[in-house]
Amino acid sequence: MRILIHDDYNSMSKWVAYYVARNINLKRPTPDDPFVLGLPTGSSPLGTYKELIKLNKAGKVSFQNVITFNMDEYVGLPEDHPESYHYFMEENFFKHIEIPRNNINILDGNASDLEKECDEFEKKIEKAGGIDLFLGGIGVDGHLAFNEPGSSLTSKTRIKTLTLDTRIANSRFFENDISKVPKTALTVGLGTIMSAEEVLIIINGYKKARALYQVVERGVNHMWTGSMLQLHRYGIIVCDDEATMELKVGTVKYFKDIENQDLENLPELYVNN
Ligand code: GLP
Repeated sequence: MRILIHDDYNSMSKWVAYYVARNINLKRPTPDDPFVLGLPTGSSPLGTYKELIKLNKAGKVSFQNVITFNMDEYVGLPEDHPESYHYFMEENFFKHIEIPRNNINILDGNASDLEKECDEFEKKIEKAGGIDLFLGGIGVDGHLAFNEPGSSLTSKTRIKTLTLDTRIANSRFFENDISKVPKTALTVGLGTIMSAEEVLIIINGYKKARALYQVVERGVNHMWTGSMLQLHRYGIIVCDDEATMELKVGTVKYFKDIENQDLENLPELYVNN
């Protein structure tokens, strides 16, 4: 696993955006061989989306041949509800970039048959050729997407009941009223995330320090589902200094030392004009 520790949220976000753009450009995607990108919601990736929008507007990366799959969606929230993940993605990313609408895939939390919706989502990922790069954030309890503690480590897309922890954490988006936070969500599984060619998890802020510690310094454990990243053949954590508060000094120094070169430079974009 690679761990890149940036001084702050802004440099972390910029680095991640350049990394995503670089990977898209390196593949030289075409309609027949698109770049398949897994995407998260939440506050963690907001800076990355802003930078990607800038890169798209500056002509440094195109999303014409990019297919996206979002990680999760609440069950029962209308798509135009300001806290639905459909709305979030539209407002914070999709409406600002040039991407064919048909290339966007987000689970439908209002589908009449939710299990079928989840199965079809998996099939769509497969049909697209599998995910090249899955971007993610992490919950304070270490969850990836909505794979709450105790989730099967090989799970696929399915319905999950949200924990009290997560509903309390997310109530900040629902007027701090926990009764307004949906109790269930559709989410890709840990197996779905692990099948991606590459997985990049963004972890920032002091409130994520415990999760980062569990994911990096403890073993693979279904109670901290982000720890599955240890088993991925190409897992990357990009974090800020604040999030490292619970790591050993030696761990921080080790990763800062081996990633020194890459931290100082933004990934090259390899744009062919
Ligand atoms: C939710 C989402 C996760 C996200 C997490 C953290 O639970 N399902 O995908 O990583 O929140 O969100 P934030 O980035 O706002 O801290």
